[in-house]
Amino acid sequence: MSDERIERGRRQFQTVCVACHKNVENGEEPIEQPLAWYKFDKSGRKSDEFQSVRSRWFGKEPLRRGKPEYVFLTIKRGIAGSTMTPWAHLGDETIWDLVSYVLYIENKNLNAEKEKGGE
Ligand code: HEC
Repeated sequence: MSDERIERGRRQFQTVCVACHKNVENGEEPIEQPLAWYKFDKSGRKSDEFQSVRSRWFGKEPLRRGKPEYVFLTIKRGIAGSTMTPWAHLGDETIWDLVSYVLYIENKNLNAEKEKGGE
């Protein structure tokens, strides 16, 4: 996890990932998007509304699979049934840059920073 890797990861992140995950280091919120299937109400009846999913908020919400090798696989293979698509075409080296950057933001713990800021 060298500084160089994090910086390359940040630049890569700003090109594609930022569309959904947003620039959370600058206080932006990740977007929420509808998915292709309907919500069901408690009685199991289909409603007219679509389910939605929000892109993971790095640094505020814990990663579901936070070990570096898992973050790598999540980016490479995507998350089935979500708008998080596979990014294998970027190549392993670039994916490792992205892993470093994601874990870097995650470890910054944006919640703690906000608390310290007195808001
Ligand atoms: C089209 C929107 C979109 C783009 C573009 C996108 N993501 Fe995601 N990402 C999501 C969503 C939505 C989730 C949460 C999925 C869920 O909760 O099921 C997610 C989840 C993740 C997670 C899961 C973390 C965990 O909890 O384990 C990682 C890591 C991640 N994205 C990294 C990236 C990286 C790196 C890129 C750029 C190469 C990227 N994403 C591009 C929508 C996107």
